[in-house]
Amino acid sequence: MKKYKYAFLEPGRYARGWHIVLFSSELQVGEVKQLHYFGQDIVAYRGESGTVAILDAHCPHLGANLGSGEGRVRGDNIACPFHGWTFNATGQCVEIPYATSIPDKAVNALKGWPVLEKNGFIALWYATDGEDPEYYLPDIPEWGQPGWGDWVFYRSRIRAKPCDVIENIVDIAHFPHVHGGLVESWENRFDERSVTQLSTVKRDPNANMIIPPGVVFDLEEARKEAGNDADAWGDATYHGPSIMYYETESTSPQMNFKSWWVNCHTVVNDNEVDLCSAVMVSSLTDDPLPAEFAQLYPEMAHVAFSQDVEIWKDKVYREEPILCDGDGPVNKLRRWYEQFYLPHIKSGQQKTRTENRAGP
Ligand code: FES
Ligand SMILES: [Fe+2]
Repeated sequence: MKKYKYAFLEPGRYARGWHIVLFSSELQVGEVKQLHYFGQDIVAYRGESGTVAILDAHCPHLGANLGSGEGRVRGDNIACPFHGWTFNATGQCVEIPYATSIPDKAVNALKGWPVLEKNGFIALWYATDGEDPEYYLPDIPEWGQPGWGDWVFYRSRIRAKPCDVIENIVDIAHFPHVHGGLVESWENRFDERSVTQLSTVKRDPNANMIIPPGVVFDLEEARKEAGNDADAWGDATYHGPSIMYYETESTSPQMNFKSWWVNCHTVVNDNEVDLCSAVMVSSLTDDPLPAEFAQLYPEMAHVAFSQDVEIWKDKVYREEPILCDGDGPVNKLRRWYEQFYLPHIKSGQQKTRTENRAGP
């Protein structure tokens, strides 16, 4: 069997942690969604109390998908559309309408996944060995506040590995080539379950930029409207293996605004990931943002994300990359990231396979 340098390259292994599978607005009360992540079929539904549950999709009886048809939510339970076996939000079988008793084996036969709904998104906790969830995902204080709308999000499925995506957080050298940006300052901070990039990046009209297919507006013009000379800062943090928050403020004579982005990737199988970029924006003053700008801004943010996607979808992963002194801490990121694929040792004692290797 092939020996991989990092555990996250081994087929069939997925990162322990929280992964966003839906935004809250995508799942109404009584609605059931069939999903496919981590190489498995799962279903998400919102019960009548508003609580979201995520279960393995296939019924332990004769294998129907609990989301087939339109799905059948009953209170906070879900009934299989085939013969009506009914499961609660943790996956326990609570009723078989045509049986006098529930077989012992059926009671706990269906797996229920830990779910966290906050900040307007729905995340599930993935852990192969049943490790308990860790509650490291912070609140986004502005979510749901007056003046802030809901997330505007775009999702796409591409052929890539999660490890291709996450390296963006330390990749300082791609800005002038992919995003047309001039990096003025840059720092990466590593914590136990998070990695942050603090940066100030200015638009450089002489730099290259990728124009993703399907962009229907003039990127240059749109940026001018946001204030080319804007004084802007942004902090991006991966909280765990796949969810990145980006908080940014921009002040200029034309416009003063704050925005939050959530960029996330959720692994579908060994070869594909779902990418999602979500944005909400609000004025920093009492004057509301011009409606046109409020609409354009999430599209611009999505284009910035799509510039990276254009690279990710066609690249290969180099296990032993040749790096230079201008690169960000790529190998350090890889060692940090590998923790999510290794057995969980107590907080602070995580051992990685590669921790003794030298290099940035
Ligand atoms: S397959 Fe689900 S109740 Fe029969
Ligand atoms: Fe990027």
